[in-house]
Parts: sequence; structure tokens; C-alpha cells
Amino acid sequence: MTVRVGVLGCGVVGTEVIRLLTTQAADLEARAGARLELVGVAVRSLETPRDPVVDRALLTTDAEALVDRADVVVELMGGLEPARSLLLRAIERGAAVVTANKALLGADGPTLYAAADAAGVDLYFEAAVAGAIPLVRPVRESLAGDAVTRVLGIVNGTTNYVLDQMATTGADLDVAVKQAQELGYAEADPTADVAGFDAAAKAAILASLAFHTRVSVDQVHREGIGAVTAEDVAWAAETGYVIKLLAVAERVAATADHPQGVVVRVHPALVPSGHPLAGVRQAFNAVFVEADAAGELMFYGRGAGGRPTASAVLGDVVTVARHRVRGGRGPIESRYADLPVLDVGAA
Ligand code: NDP
Ligand code: HSE
Repeated sequence: MTVRVGVLGCGVVGTEVIRLLTTQAADLEARAGARLELVGVAVRSLETPRDPVVDRALLTTDAEALVDRADVVVELMGGLEPARSLLLRAIERGAAVVTANKALLGADGPTLYAAADAAGVDLYFEAAVAGAIPLVRPVRESLAGDAVTRVLGIVNGTTNYVLDQMATTGADLDVAVKQAQELGYAEADPTADVAGFDAAAKAAILASLAFHTRVSVDQVHREGIGAVTAEDVAWAAETGYVIKLLAVAERVAATADHPQGVVVRVHPALVPSGHPLAGVRQAFNAVFVEADAAGELMFYGRGAGGRPTASAVLGDVVTVARHRVRGGRGPIESRYADLPVLDVGAA
């Protein structure tokens, strides 16, 4: 059996996905139970130089036509449009979709979840949160029988890299952001990282999955690291702290002051230097998940970069290909109960 894979985007992540698809073809076929045939790669420009691993004959600027001839569509373009329309088109045609696009899922995940559930197809997005770290699947599937109460941690590699560089080399924020861009960690517009939009989108995705509700990025209290100076970082170190950009999603019980609901926020925080999160260096991410029965769990690893992210994407591709071969599909997300998202700021 052959599963036709169409990749939308051939940038930092897309190139590494193509490398793994190409160089590990035999292993992937054995694991998936089907040959994963790369049938095309959609890009904006055919003139842009590409890594030699990319077969230029597969490049196309007609993403819609590529979607129409793929069994699995892997979206690595980023942004809201045309990514959303292309994914909806793929879903409506019965293709399984894999995406790393947290901006889209954070803004409009429920539309995609509902479309996938209506069409009975897979929608997988492990790479959308915390790069290589298996986190979406544990929260979405492994903990489905438990009651998650809190998710807290570092979910943006660029800002962690920037704060780490500021602390260890005294670099200015702008210089460190440029380095993060060169290393392939930053979003196309790094403001998304620095201002906390990327972490807020990831927090919205995690909160939605963890608490079986709908949280959009607009409902996340958000404060980025743009105002953090080298002096702030040095002062924190002198007083026994490290500045980290934290994402927090909590389920709160009803009290006299507020109803039951969820609180989701992203902001810089002073973390005591002995805390495990203080030791998270470079572009690594680390997330604690607390659940009633499981207790506290910690997830740690590379949170950004082409190759680590491609690992998460390929894991999803193999999973959805297995479903194509043997039947079955991933979790159903569109039957959420609506819990209020409480506006309590960074309190
Ligand atoms: P890049 O900017 O490096 O690559 C984007 C690719 O998409 C390019 O090849 C570009 O084409 C193509 N593209 C963009 N718009 C269109 C369009 N309208 N039509 C056709 N092709 C288009 O992004 P990344 O690889 O860094 O990120 C891709 C996705 O993965 C994003 O959603 C990002 O948030 C997510 N992600 C990124 C991580 C990272 O560490 N970089 C980690 C986790 C997730 P062209 O080359 O011709 O310009
Ligand atoms: N720009 C993102 C980050 C990529 O730095 O975390 C990984 O999602």
C-alpha cells in the first residue's frame, strides 16, 4: 500500500521533514505499514535556493492541486491563511492532516477540530506545542482518563534562548533575537515570540486539550519579554532568580468571587535559581502537568528548530498513515464542554 504525502512549506521545518521522509523511507514504511510517497512540496517561490535533499521536481506553487492528490497533508507554511483554507479543503476531501501551526490552532482550532470530526479524518499536531517534546499526545490521549488541574512551563524556545543569552553573555535582547532567527528557532515574524503571542497560542491549545474546553489565543492574558533588559536579568541573577517566560493554564474551582473555569496566562516570571525550570537553557522547553490521579509530570526537551520539530511531525505522519492502513482514528475534539475562561490577569 502507498500513502501519498503532500507537504505544504519547505522552510526550516519542512526541509527537515522532507529529509527524514527521504532518508528514512524504508524504516518509515516498516513502521507505518505503507510506503510514504512524497507527492509534492508547496512553496511560495520556485526560485528560492533549496537544500539538496529537496527534489526540485516536486516543488509547486499550486498548493490546492497538491492537497487534492494527497492522502496525508502536512502543513508547515505557518500563518492563518491560506493554511486554514488548505487544511479545511484537505479535510473535506477526506485526507488526514498534520500541522505544526500553533498560530492557526490557537486562533481557530475548534473550526478545524469540528471539520475533522465531521469528515471522520485525523487531525494531528504534536509539533505545534514544545517542538520535539511529546506533550500534545500525553495531554490529549494519555491523560484522557484523568483530571488535569494545571499545566505550567516554558513553551517558547526563542524567548528562552534570548533570556538565556542575556543571562550568560550579557547580550542585548535584539542581538539574541537575531541569533535565534539564524538558528531557525524564531517565527517568520519574531514579534510573535518576543511579545508572547506564540506562547499564548500554545497555552490556548494546551488549555483546550487539558480541560476539554475551548480557549482561544485572544482569551489568554499575555505579556512578552520585550521590556526585559540586560539589567533586569543581571539583577535577577544577583538575587538568586532567573527570568523565564512562563505559560500557565489552571482549572479553578468555583468560589464566592468567581465561577468555575479556567485561567490561562503568559508572562515573564522570577523563577528561583534552584527550581528545575531555572535550569532550562538555550531553546529547550519544559512543562509540568498536574493531574488528580497522576500527580505531577514533567516534560523536557528541544522546543524549537527544524530537526527536533520534524521528529514530532514525522511521528504524527506515521500515526495517521497507520490509521489509513489499519483503520481507526485519533481523538475526537469537537465535543468539548464550554468552561468560562476567567479574566483574572496575571494574579
Ligand atoms: P519558514 O518560514 O522557514 O517556512 C515556511 C515555508 O512555507 C516556506 O517554504 C514558504 O515558501 C512556505 N509558504 C509560506 N506561505 C506559503 C504560501 N502562501 N503558499 C505556499 N508556500 C508557502 O517556517 P518554519 O519552517 O519555521 O515554520 C513552519 C511552521 O512550523 C509554522 O507554523 C511554525 O509556527 C511551525 N513551527 C516552527 C518551529 C521552528 O522551530 N521553526 C517549531 C515548531 C513549529 P518559500 O520557501 O517559497 O518562501
Ligand atoms: N518560534 C517557536 C519557538 C518555534 O521559539 O518556540 C517552536 O514552536
